This record gives sequence, C-alpha cells and structure tokens, in this order.
Amino acid sequence: KNDEPEYTIGFSQCIGSDEWRRTMLDEMKRELSFYPGVKLLYEDAEGNSKKQIGQVKEMLRKKIDLLIISPNEARPLTPVVEEAFNRGIPVIIIDRKISSNLYTSYVGGNNFEIGRIAAEYIAGKLNGKGKILEVMGLPGSSPAIERQRGFNEGISKYPGVHIAKQVYGNWLKREAEKEVAKVISAYQDIDVVFAHNDQMALGSYQALKRSLPASKIKIVGVDALPGASNGLRYVSDGILYASMLYPTGGKEAIRTALAILNHMPFDKENILKTLVVDSSNVQLMKLQSDKINSQQIDIERQQEMLEEQRKIYHNQQIFLNILVVS
Ligand code: FRU
Repeated sequence: KNDEPEYTIGFSQCIGSDEWRRTMLDEMKRELSFYPGVKLLYEDAEGNSKKQIGQVKEMLRKKIDLLIISPNEARPLTPVVEEAFNRGIPVIIIDRKISSNLYTSYVGGNNFEIGRIAAEYIAGKLNGKGKILEVMGLPGSSPAIERQRGFNEGISKYPGVHIAKQVYGNWLKREAEKEVAKVISAYQDIDVVFAHNDQMALGSYQALKRSLPASKIKIVGVDALPGASNGLRYVSDGILYASMLYPTGGKEAIRTALAILNHMPFDKENILKTLVVDSSNVQLMKLQSDKINSQQIDIERQQEMLEEQRKIYHNQQIFLNILVVS
C-alpha cells in the first residue's frame, strides 16, 4: 500500500492562538479522521497579513489540492487567494472574507445579521432608549466591517438609542481593555457595551470593573463558545449580559472540501446560524454542549479501541503467516 496522501488540503489560519480558532481546528481534525487519505497542511499567520500571504504562496509552491483560508484582513489577502483560484485550486473561505468573489465556497456566519440582531436585542432590553459603546474588531477584517454595518443599521431604527462611541479592540482582550479604559471616564453614562467578540467583551468588563466598580453597564459579546474561559461561561456567570452564537464552521469546511474534491454537489454559500445567548437559555446551551462533548469523547474512545483491535488482528496475521511458511 502506498503512503502518499490521496489529497492535501492547505489550511491558512489568520491567528491560531485563540480558543475559538483552536476549536475550529479541532473540529476540522475530528472530521478529517473519517478520511485517512487526506493530509492537512496547517499554517498559522499569527495575526500578520504579510506572513499569511507568504504562507499561502508556500502552500501553492508545495502543491495543495484545495485551500481553506480565514484571511486576517480582506484586502491584502485578496490577490494571493485569487491567484490560487485562477490556478484551478478550489478555495474555501472560512469566517473572514476576501474582497472579491473569486472563491469556490464560503463557510461561516452572516456577520451583518449578527450585528443587526445584536442591535435589535440591545434596543429591546433598553426599551428603546440608551447609549452604547461599541468595541470593534480589526478594522480591515470582514466580520468587523459587517458586524459594524449590521449593528448600525439595527440601531438606526431606534431614534432613542445611540452609538455614543466606537473604539477598535482588534479582536484582542488586552487591546479592548486598554481602549475602553482610555475612553470610559468621558462616557460614564453609557448603558451597554457591544463588543464584536467575547474576548474583547471580557477586556471591556475588566476595564469597567477597575474604573467604575459600581457600574450597571451591560456587556454583550459575540462567539458564545463553550469551555471554562469562554463566552458561554461568562454569560452563565453574569459577567456578560449576552453573547451572539458564532459557530466556527470547522466541520462544515472539511465536509465541503471533500465534496469539492470528490466532485460531489456543494453550496457556494454555507451560512451558519446564530442566536442570542443570555440568562434565559444559557443553561440549556451549556447542557447541550457538555452532552456533545461527552459523546465526542465516547466516539474517540471507540476509535482508539478499534485501532487496538486492528493492530492485534494485524499481528495475528503476521504470526499465522510465519507458521504457514515454516
Ligand atoms: C477569533 C475571532 C472571533 C471572532 C472572529 C472574527 O480569532 O476574533 O472571536 O468572532 O475571530 O473573525
């Protein structure tokens, strides 16, 4: 049997070090375990668009059969993704987009809708009257642009609700914390912080706790990721008022990749659903994610046991062959 992989999928991740993207990679690996002939070539650009361009070029040089990419910023990454596409390599864009439609398939949430639904939700909780501080993601990354647009459109329907101030937290907790700390004394009268992700929401919380320890400001984030130091937990602990679920799409990306590689039907746009997680449903969400997690552990144990059995069988065959030959 030859050990050459049947297909090599290149996966270019914009910033691999956060929990949300680690979860994305875990989901991909789990799904890939069903396709032993497929190899994953993974590169982490560590939040650097230039580095990501170089990594994609290197993947093209090494010859990949398909590219999955979450572009750090849309514009700088567009030419290299178009180059791959024009060379006939199928491209799956995951979560963050490029600024052209030269790609094969997109997997991810509708970030405009996430912003809009967050605005509706917040305006409702404010009874149509209040002031908001918006903590935005990295300026050139598509989810920051789209969440902002959707949020703005949603808020504009409520004449009594205003976005009083916007700051960039660049998706990072410490930057959000720093930026919120800078502006908060001038905006002590805000009612809500809307942060484009939960990590920045947590950074905002820490800044508020320090500067305005008695504040009743509600904080709303995005991601609602399960796990000990992630959004679902913060909502259930009351640190965040709410979070918008933003699935990573790791599993869907691999499924779509295999459909493309095997010339099976697939959708160009694979839009993952969102919902508001707050105190009314967070326990249910936690219960479900714990259950899925424990089922996953069972599946992995079964796979290990099967692998053990396969090894035992293999050794017995070798032993039998020796007996027959001698
Ligand atoms: C993780 C992250 C998420 C956010 C997404 C946007 O790197 O910042 O928190 O929802 O990227 O692309």
